[in-house]
Amino acid sequence: MQKLILLGGGGHCKSCIDVIEQENKYVIEGILDTKELLGQTLLDHKYIGVDEDIKSFVQQGYVFLITVGQIKTASIRKKIAQLLTKHGALLATVVSPRAYVSRHAKVEQGSIIMHDALINASVAIGKHCIINTKALVEHDTIIDDFCHISTSAVINGGVHIKEGTFFGSNAVSKEYIETDNNDFIKAGSIFKGLS
Ligand SMILES: CC(C)(COP(=O)(O)OP(=O)(O)OC[C@H]1O[C@@H](n2cnc3c(N)ncnc32)[C@H](O)[C@@H]1OP(=O)(O)O)[C@@H](O)C(=O)NCCC(=O)NCCS
Repeated sequence: MQKLILLGGGGHCKSCIDVIEQENKYVIEGILDTKELLGQTLLDHKYIGVDEDIKSFVQQGYVFLITVGQIKTASIRKKIAQLLTKHGALLATVVSPRAYVSRHAKVEQGSIIMHDALINASVAIGKHCIINTKALVEHDTIIDDFCHISTSAVINGGVHIKEGTFFGSNAVSKEYIETDNNDFIKAGSIFKGLS
């Protein structure tokens, strides 16, 4: 099994760890976060370094997943992704065994599909996305890089979720519409597209 390093050890990271352990495709080597956390653990996984250590872990052949959460903005996840690209890091793609991903859908590297998410046919999910627990992404939807589709959100057919967008918990989209770049769709709202 490939050895995996997680980048960012907060609450979202806990949910990621659970999915990664259930998938059983990667062994978690440890977490990179602030130096104050070095030596501590999160769900039995050690904080083993900081962002400056990425280069050395890349050279040792590890794969990486960004596990910082994303609500207000994707900027922290984007900064970490730039570091990974700069050092030529390999990215993990994590899919919960409890998720359904159509064989006609595509999920790019660096993204995580969490428990009970459902990704239907002809969906394309970009890099470094979070498709959170119980989210539903319907046919022909495109989700660009760095988007977070939150818990129990419903993205109906043919929607284009543009780069860096946050789509809140339990929000529902109309079909065949698009968001702005870096859009923020409130939890529980009905999203009818850009006015
Ligand atoms: C819950 C919610 C509907 C209303 O919350 P509220 O406290 O009554 O109202 P606010 O509009 O002040 O928003 C709360 C937070 O969302 C942020 N927010 C709201 N609109 C935003 C926007 N357009 N862009 C970026 N952030 C925004 C606010 O900055 C605020 O953050 P803070 O609490 O750290 O200051 C809404 O803010 C929301 O959707 N939050 C995200 C919940 C969610 O889906 N979490 C995902 C878990 S997987």
